[in-house]
Amino acid sequence: MTDDTTVQRLVAAARAAREHAYAPYSHFAVGAALLDEQGRIHAGCNIENAAYPQSQCAEATALGQLVMAGGRRVVAAAVVGVAAQPVTPCGGCRQRLREFADDDMPVWVADLSTVRAQYTLGQLLPASFGPDHLEPR
Ligand code: THU
Repeated sequence: MTDDTTVQRLVAAARAAREHAYAPYSHFAVGAALLDEQGRIHAGCNIENAAYPQSQCAEATALGQLVMAGGRRVVAAAVVGVAAQPVTPCGGCRQRLREFADDDMPVWVADLSTVRAQYTLGQLLPASFGPDHLEPR
C-alpha cells in the first residue's frame, strides 16, 4: 500500500523532474519518480540525443539515481507526461523497472494537474522475464 501523501509526493517529484527534461527533438517532456525500500524518492527526466537511439527515458534516469543512492528496490513509481492518453512507461522501461520491483508495484500515471491512471507493474508487463529466470535449476 502506498498512502495518499506518498503518492502526492511521488507525483510532485515527477512533475518537478519533468521540468528538467532535455527533449529538443521530440519536445515531449517526461518526469519519473521512484520510491525505494528506504522510503526515499529518486527522480529523473528524459534526456534525448542528436543520435536519436541514444536518448534515455525519464524512468531510466530515475533508476540510475536510485541505484547510485544505494537503493535496490522500487516500491512505487510515478510517471508524468502531457498527452491525450495517460503517459505510461514504454516497454523498455517496464522491463527496467521489473529488475527492481515486484508484480504488485503500483505505477501512478499523472499529468500536470491530476493522477490519470494507476496500474501495477504486473498489469503493464505480464508474464515477465526477470532475475529469477537466471537462477540455476
Ligand atoms: N519517454 C520517457 O521518458 N518515458 C516513457 O516511458 C515514454 C517515452 C520519452 C522518450 C523520448 O524522449 C520522448 O519521451 C518521446 O518518446
